[in-house]
Amino acid sequence: MSSLFLCLLLAATSLNLIIAADPDMLQDLCVADLNSAVRVNGFPCKPATNVTASDFFFAGLAHPGATNTTMGSVVTAANVERIPGLNTLGVSLSRVDYAPGGLNPPHVHPRATEIVFVLTGEIEVGFVTTANRVVGRRIGQGEVFVFPRGLVHWQRNVGSTPAAAIAAFNSQLPGTLGVAAALFASEPPVADEVLERAFQIGAGEVRRIRRRLAPH
Ligand code: GLV
Ligand code: MN
Repeated sequence: MSSLFLCLLLAATSLNLIIAADPDMLQDLCVADLNSAVRVNGFPCKPATNVTASDFFFAGLAHPGATNTTMGSVVTAANVERIPGLNTLGVSLSRVDYAPGGLNPPHVHPRATEIVFVLTGEIEVGFVTTANRVVGRRIGQGEVFVFPRGLVHWQRNVGSTPAAAIAAFNSQLPGTLGVAAALFASEPPVADEVLERAFQIGAGEVRRIRRRLAPH
């Protein structure tokens, strides 16, 4: 009897994990009042009488972003912070542009699974499972690839021309935590001893990496 109960509990827990995403909406729309001082899980709704089409519109993905960055890539987000009408709807997009050889460096989204669609070019994509296994491949124009929620992933332009992709998320605000920046460029910094031990490197190497990753 108790093992049946345990099985049911495990099944319920894994089902909950599978369907976990932003919570379902309780009304037609809830356009974010981004200036509200009230703090809730998401944003409070602005009065429905003040809602306009521009609350649901964003032109910022129409053109390539500037890829002359350290990594040779740039992410332009179209999330609830740019499109207040996305509040409570559980979806958002990004556009990623890559220079030849450009890298969207390893990062995680704590609140969303991501699916990328290549607009132009050819990119190499990958993620790492909790068993430390890399799952990746090359994908080209019109092809898609999925990065499961919470797993470290990246993309790299392996072609000789610029590349671009659209990324869709099952969250209005997926959150992005860059692995290298989180560990070596956080404020206040992660203790040197932690990084030296974790990466098995010396104090000089920690200093060099910090310097290179510092925002300039
Ligand atoms: C790509 O991985 C992105 O998060 O936009
Ligand atoms: Mn991503």
